[in-house]
Amino acid sequence: KPIVLSGCQPSGQLSIGNYIGALRQWVKMQSTHDCLFMLVDLHAITVRQEPEQLRNATLDGLALYMACGLDPEQSTIFVQSHVPQHAELAWILNCYTQMGELNRMTQFKDKSDRHAHNVNAGLFTYPALMAADILLYQANEVPVGNDQKQHLELTRDVATRFNNIYGDIFTVPEPFIPEVGARVMSLQDPTKKMSKSDDNENNYIGLLEDPKKITKKLKRAVTDSDEQARIYFDTEEKPGVSNLLSILSAATGTSIADLVPQYEDKMYGHLKTDTAAAVVAMLEPIQQRYQEYRNNLDYLQQVMRKGADAASERAAQTLRQVYDAVGFVPRP
Ligand code: AQP
Repeated sequence: KPIVLSGCQPSGQLSIGNYIGALRQWVKMQSTHDCLFMLVDLHAITVRQEPEQLRNATLDGLALYMACGLDPEQSTIFVQSHVPQHAELAWILNCYTQMGELNRMTQFKDKSDRHAHNVNAGLFTYPALMAADILLYQANEVPVGNDQKQHLELTRDVATRFNNIYGDIFTVPEPFIPEVGARVMSLQDPTKKMSKSDDNENNYIGLLEDPKKITKKLKRAVTDSDEQARIYFDTEEKPGVSNLLSILSAATGTSIADLVPQYEDKMYGHLKTDTAAAVVAMLEPIQQRYQEYRNNLDYLQQVMRKGADAASERAAQTLRQVYDAVGFVPRP
């Protein structure tokens, strides 16, 4: 089976963007792929986190993974900091990644604008850690939203460079980008992506939010002010309406092409009400299952332990080869 690896940052409550753009795809891949799914807490601290919140968001994220359908019997589910090889390989790869390459990363530019008071070296070298995450497991495919495509390209470049010097150590991974929902946009500013750590909570919908709040946020979502308030899909001219159509499509499983004619004579309000109802219905079973997992700390511990053991064993094999390749003396 092809190996797949992906993860979410516990940098806030997972959003419908994470679900539609990532988690939903992961669930499907479990039966066809050898899957590893992480909560990337090492990545999360590239932005300042409140310790208690980070701990909770990690456990919430783990419970949400399973509530969304990730199965620890089928997949390896773990917390990144429980597997020390990630940080170890990241250091090595830092030495094979050029400043110029990192400088071109648009996420670094975005995040350093948003967190201008804390532009730390970790934020800059984040892509080297992401490369380590992927290459440690010799992943063949990495499901990512559009926003992560550039980082994956860099992973491929670094892997290829390393292989050219030392022989075939790393598998060069392919991106896997879903057709539907590759990018869920912010509700108040639909030209940027929905982010769970957005300062304005009206921009995103968390997977654990209550139905009333979800409905309120979607009703307040920015639409587009052209002369006729027509509903059609055009991300350039009508980013707000197009985003609602995408979300509605993802939540109902009806294609955008089939949805648009249904709204021919309708108003923005209709679209918002329907989208809210569809999102609430999509999240209801997830929220229910989440509660059961989150209340069972023993079980969460068991899942984390099993995942960390399995991941560590695999990661250690790759790291040993890398250490040997670069010329480190093996520890006696
Ligand atoms: N808005 C989105 N639309 C589609 N996919 C998305 N993903 C994230 N946001 C959207 C995908 O979810 C996976 C996990 O992302 P992440 O948590 O590692 O980090 P991120 O991409 O930085 O997500 P956020 O929510 O924007 O986090 P913060 O606010 O902390 O930076 C990835 O596959 C991502 O593509």
